Amino acid sequence: MNILITGGAGFIGSHTAEYFHENGNDVFVLDNLSTGKIENIPFINQENFFNIDIRDYNKIEAIIKEFQFDVIVHLAAVVSVVDTVKDPITSNEVNVEATLNLLDINKKYNQNIKKIIFASSAAVYGNDPILPKTMDSMIRPASPYAIQKYAGEQYLKIYNSLYGLPTVALRFFNVYGPKQDPKSQYSGVLSILKNKFDNGDEFIFNGDGLQTRDFVFVKDIVNAINIVVNNDNANGNIFNVGSGKASSLMEMFETFQQIYNKTISYRYGDERAGDVKHSLADISSLVKLGYQPNYQVNNGLKEYLNSEIKLGI
Ligand SMILES: NC(=O)c1ccc[n+]([C@@H]2O[C@H](COP(=O)([O-])OP(=O)(O)OC[C@H]3O[C@@H](n4cnc5c(N)ncnc54)[C@H](O)[C@@H]3O)[C@@H](O)[C@H]2O)c1
Repeated sequence: MNILITGGAGFIGSHTAEYFHENGNDVFVLDNLSTGKIENIPFINQENFFNIDIRDYNKIEAIIKEFQFDVIVHLAAVVSVVDTVKDPITSNEVNVEATLNLLDINKKYNQNIKKIIFASSAAVYGNDPILPKTMDSMIRPASPYAIQKYAGEQYLKIYNSLYGLPTVALRFFNVYGPKQDPKSQYSGVLSILKNKFDNGDEFIFNGDGLQTRDFVFVKDIVNAINIVVNNDNANGNIFNVGSGKASSLMEMFETFQQIYNKTISYRYGDERAGDVKHSLADISSLVKLGYQPNYQVNNGLKEYLNSEIKLGI
């Protein structure tokens, strides 16, 4: 199977690329390296790497025509909510227009494609307090990022119902794991926490630390992608991908203390404007397709922290 991963040099993309590469597929990565790193994908040779902007219509069209991918996992995006607030127009070009173009190019020139997967986000649910989030939950986007992810996933759905493209959108919850960049201010809270524990620096909770999230280990995200790649019943649908369990930030802090066998100082800062207090995924529709999270925070964090130590980071 030949498979294209857009955003494949990034955090989730590089894990996805590695998994499909190790399982004997011909993996191609398309990435403009804006937040991704070539060092994340040492197993991809030069001929399989396209240093291209996803907005470059002509180049994308040429690549799709030539390679006739069996599967496309579309992860390239402006991933920072803050950046989409600063520049809704440019981020809309990347997150929405380029997604629509990718669908349309495949509809025109790659009709035998077996799957196109899009990375949506739990952000689409916004601040509505009712939990867990199901496919029937209110959609209340609270940022351009959330609107763009919602638009993207709906375009995938409509390209299935109108034109028969085998599309699936996945709403990722709070993903964590190796290769997540702790230096980025937009990085997930767990990679920030890791950085603080590594350096013995003070950690500041946004608010009281009792806010909860559905933290999902990156390998479970890859597992979910693999399940929908191999299941035609998934086509035309949208699925939550989480662990199905909520953990508070304070619990995560305590788990770090146990794993590191030390503590660091902390204090409580202001709540971040617009932050949701609680988040939890109903993952039952994906479970029906065979998905089971293999990681809960304890073993996920252990694997994350141990793997980084082995890498000497
Ligand atoms: N990490 C999470 O918790 C999370 C949660 C929900 C959804 N997502 C979504 O999952 C996807 C992957 O996110 P990630 O956490 O791995 O982030 P990431 O920043 O590590 O990966 C995004 C990749 O896309 C590339 N990219 C960005 N703009 C591009 C462009 N114009 N052309 C080509 N490549 C471009 C970047 O260089 C990077 O390698 C994104 O679509 C993101 O919105 C992530």
